[in-house]
Amino acid sequence: MNRDTREVPLILLGLGNIGGTLLRQILETRATVAERTGLRLVPIAAADVSGLLYAAEGLPEATLTAALEATQDGGTLAALVGQRLLPGARPLADLPTVLQPGAILADLTASPKTAPTLHAALAAGCGVVLANKIPLAGPWDEAAPLLAHPRLRYEVTVGAGLPVIQTLHDLRDTGDAITLIEGCVSGTLGYLCAELERGVPYSQAVAQARALGYTEPDPRDDLSGKDVARKALILARTAGWPLEEHHLTVEPLCSEALAGLSIEAFMAAAATLDAAYAARVAAAQTQGNVLRYIARVTPEGSAVGLTAVERDGPLGALRGPANYIALHTARYQPLPLALSGPGAGREVTAAGVLSDILELARRMSNV
Ligand SMILES: NC(=O)c1ccc[n+]([C@@H]2O[C@H](COP(=O)([O-])OP(=O)(O)OC[C@H]3O[C@@H](n4cnc5c(N)ncnc54)[C@H](OP(=O)(O)O)[C@@H]3O)[C@@H](O)[C@H]2O)c1
Repeated sequence: MNRDTREVPLILLGLGNIGGTLLRQILETRATVAERTGLRLVPIAAADVSGLLYAAEGLPEATLTAALEATQDGGTLAALVGQRLLPGARPLADLPTVLQPGAILADLTASPKTAPTLHAALAAGCGVVLANKIPLAGPWDEAAPLLAHPRLRYEVTVGAGLPVIQTLHDLRDTGDAITLIEGCVSGTLGYLCAELERGVPYSQAVAQARALGYTEPDPRDDLSGKDVARKALILARTAGWPLEEHHLTVEPLCSEALAGLSIEAFMAAAATLDAAYAARVAAAQTQGNVLRYIARVTPEGSAVGLTAVERDGPLGALRGPANYIALHTARYQPLPLALSGPGAGREVTAAGVLSDILELARRMSNV
């Protein structure tokens, strides 16, 4: 190890799509990262719901590789932890005992239960990086201490690898006044809108998105608009507007009437919505418009839902999982500061988390 290289202990919570990809990126880029930044990333703990692997001096590469193999394709660490095949395998409940000052904990789960761990990590002197939106999108009183904490970063919670959150902070730090945030922040719903525009029936577009792995196993988790609403709250709060859930109006991209059905029954019943969505697409087209699922966020509140936009405008031109986010400010007007690019995907999201980890490590050592 280079004498000038500083070790950064990492604790990875969640080894799914993003956690697994991040761990692989860390293993593949460790030498480059150390050479370029002087920081050597050392995973000391990795966990999923089934258990925790821990080694104070850093988990051996063979253990990390075994963890990656065990968790790919939806598997869990259970086989490694439960059978105690690896040194350092423990129950998840031991997590608080592995927290140490200077370490960085990354929440790569989609769990509503990690907030106590995040607070414990910050209290123990750790840095925290979130891919998980849920802790930042609950009641303001609970989210505010996390959002304001100097040792917490959450760039990928909106727009995946696009630097939306950092840009909002930079605008505020330089005294600009944000007035409106508007955009498409769901790759999944963006794909659906583009398919509807091509004339694909709603039920078929949903089935395609599900088959391509763009949706959650239950597509209604995306169609409900809840994920976009969480992002709208995070954008608002980062802009300095302490909005609560009741300040949002959310139009789901499905019908409340289909909410109680099993997944299979919902997929079968989705065709009952084909005509209604086809009619909305046609009505927009007669005005030269297309439909996009848009979040519009102001200091007073946020509207999330299907909106007719100009076909040739930046929102109308979006395809597939692309996101577009326009930041209107006192200085950026009439043209907003706009960010566009992939708003989802394992590689770009994990790389965004990695970038947050490096930035936090630099700040924590005042480099
Ligand atoms: N995919 C994207 O493009 C993207 C973009 C931006 C942000 N995100 C966010 O990134 C997060 C991860 O997404 P993903 O697609 O990787 O999800 P995922 O594949 O479902 O992985 C989640 C992981 O978290 C683990 N987990 C759940 N609860 C836990 C707990 N309490 N303690 C420890 N581990 C726990 C799960 O373990 P088990 O497998 O054992 O249940 C699993 O390993 C989500 O919050 C998502 O919204 C994703």
